[in-house]
Formats: sequence, C-alpha cells, structure tokens
Amino acid sequence: MPDFKPLQNELFLRAARGEDTPRAPVWMMRQAGRYLPEYRALRAEEAFFEVCRTPALAAEVTLQPIERFELDAAIIFSDILVVPQAMGMDVRIVKGEGPRFDAPLDEPRDLERLLTPDVKNDLGYVFDALTHTREDLAGRVPLIGFCGAPWTLMAYMIEGGGSKHFVKARSWLYRYPEASRELLETLTDLLIEYLVGQVDAGAQAVQIFDSWAGLLGPSEFQTFVLPSLRRIARSLKEFRPEVPSIVFARGAHYAPAMLAETDFDVISLDWSMDPRDVRPLVGEKVLQGNLDPAVLFAEPEIIRDEVRRMLSQFGTTRHIANLGHGMHPDHDPERAQVFIDAVHEISEELRSAQPVSSA
Ligand code: CP3
Repeated sequence: MPDFKPLQNELFLRAARGEDTPRAPVWMMRQAGRYLPEYRALRAEEAFFEVCRTPALAAEVTLQPIERFELDAAIIFSDILVVPQAMGMDVRIVKGEGPRFDAPLDEPRDLERLLTPDVKNDLGYVFDALTHTREDLAGRVPLIGFCGAPWTLMAYMIEGGGSKHFVKARSWLYRYPEASRELLETLTDLLIEYLVGQVDAGAQAVQIFDSWAGLLGPSEFQTFVLPSLRRIARSLKEFRPEVPSIVFARGAHYAPAMLAETDFDVISLDWSMDPRDVRPLVGEKVLQGNLDPAVLFAEPEIIRDEVRRMLSQFGTTRHIANLGHGMHPDHDPERAQVFIDAVHEISEELRSAQPVSSA
C-alpha cells in the first residue's frame, strides 16, 4: 500500500461509519463531468475512455470539483462500463446518446465470448488512477472507488446501451434464468476482486451503482439481484473491514429493508423515496441522498428551501448529503455551489440546535 498523506477531512468517513458529525458531509454523484467547463475543455482534446485510462488525466478530472467546491469526498473518474470492456466487450460513448456496445449478448451461448479478465492487468489502469489521485488529493478529502452492480452491468451487456425499459435484459431473467445467474455470479466474483484492488490502490470507501435495480419487481430483485449484492458487501467486510461501502439501488422502492440485511454500511436513496419512511426500515444503516437533481435548475432560494426540507427529513445523524442521482450536463456549476453551501449552513444549524445526547 503506498504511503499517503494523513486525511484532513474525516466527515464523510465518520458519517459512513455511523458516527455523529457536526454537519452532514456532502458530495454529488457525477460531480466530475460535463457541467464543468474545465471538464469539457479537457474532453475536447481526449476521448472519454482515454481519460479513464490515463491516470494523470483521471486524477485531474477527479480533482476538478474538489478545487471548485467545498466537497467532503472525491469519487474517482472512471465508468462502470470498464468492467464489461475488460471482459472483451467493445463499448463506445456516443455523443448525445450514451454508451453503445458493438456486439451485445443475445443468447446464453454468447457468454462463451466473454473473457476472464486478469483484474490487476486489465483494470490496473483504474488502480493506477486511484493511487495517482490519492497522491494529488494529499489528504484533503477521502477518495471513493466504485463499480456498477452485477445486474446493472448485465443490463447494459444484453441491451447494448441505454434503454427506457431494458426489455431485452429483463426478459433474460425469465427466458434464461440459469444463464442469467451464471453471468451475475461471474460478474460478482470479478467485482469483488476489482473493489478489493481499488481499496488496495487507495480507495477509502466504495459505492456500488445499481442504477437499473428499479426496473425489476421485488421478487426478481430478491432472486437475482440481492444475492450478488449481499455477496459483494459480505466479501468487502471480510477482506477490507475498515472500508465503508455504499449501495445505490436506484428506483427500487422495496429494497431498503432488504438492503438493511446486507453488510453495506450506507444505503443511498433516490429522490422518489422519503427518508422518514425508510429510516425505520433500515436499523443502524447510514442513509445517503437524495435531493432531486432537477432542483439544481431552480433559483437559489428554492434550492436552499429544498435542502432544508431534505436535511430535516433525514434527521441530524447517520446522513451523507447527496443528490438522488447524478449531476446533469446542463447544470450550472453555480447552482451546485448553492447546494453545497446550503448543506453546510443548514446542516450545521440543525445539528447545533439539537440537544447534546446524554448517551
Ligand atoms: O461521479 C463521478 O463524477 C465519477 C465518474 C462517473 C462516470 N460514470 C463518468 C462518466 C461515474 C461514477 C459513472 C457511473 C456510471 N456510468 C453509471 C452509474 C451512475 C448513474 O448515472 O446511474 C452508469 C449507469 C454509467 C454508464 C454511462 N457512462 C452512461 C449512461 C454514460 C453516458 C452519460 C451521458 O449522459 O452521456 C456514460 C459516460 C460517462 N461516464 C460520462 C461521464 C462524465 C459522459 C461522457 C462524456 O464526457 O461524454
């Protein structure tokens, strides 16, 4: 493990472990990206996956929002689709459209096309990017590693790109349940090794993005998705117990109670869920979220009102402030600033008004 500078801002890691903090830590999903002019300038010169593959560039982009805003965590600049790429699937990012796979999986025998990556070699550039970024951060804030959840990766690998309903991917679960399970298990093994590698390279927390969990009903979630998520969380706790893990099962309203039974430390909520409903279902778990990113298109006073409402709903402990999904390319960075400042001010105000607990 490389020797890194001591961490100067522990808010995020303390909150992720369930400890009390003077205010809620704050970061934003997709905080590095196209809403930042400095990102667009860099992307005018370099292809997306080239940025991911070049540690110095990935580090530079990871730090862009950290240089601008008072965020409490950085998330490594990469993509969930680097894993299917390492399995031999060609993926491109098409402007205005999103990811495109040249040859998606059509039927079970296509699984034979998939390579078994040598994680250290084939994804070593992500590890190098993490180490490089950790060095450049010099302890300012902790660094979050991430991956896509097995189901979300499977959904892209079968569908071949973004889709409204992912019907082809969902139909695999019913037409080819055995092959689906096999693919999910293969991805799970790989992702565990990948996340442990990320931690060893410098990630101080990890988030698992199950962006398409909400496409499934509760019984499919329970049958196909939950076992792989549970195994990822358990393995992380077993192999790297000091590193908090976050799960984001977007749109899966039925999921929090099930996720509370896993070893994830933090459950991230999208904006469609009311934290007051979720809190009683998840015991001691920390919650993350969940401002609607669309709020950041509103006037500053509306943003502040919505932040106050959100913070009041989550309560004054066990909360990491975030959006309910990622930053949008059309967002104005100044509105992100308003969101971050509002969390700082209002969270501190709400928490200092709280009577000191006698426990
Ligand atoms: O959060 C961060 O700032 C770190 C970087 C990050 C990216 N993608 C960079 C990116 C993270 C954490 C992701 C995760 C990711 N990638 C998810 C899960 C989160 C979510 O949004 O649900 C998903 C589903 C993907 C797949 C993916 N990659 C999509 C759908 C797209 C297209 C997005 C679009 O609007 O065009 C990408 C490409 C991508 N990944 C971009 C960025 C900044 C845009 C590429 C560009 O610069 O043109």
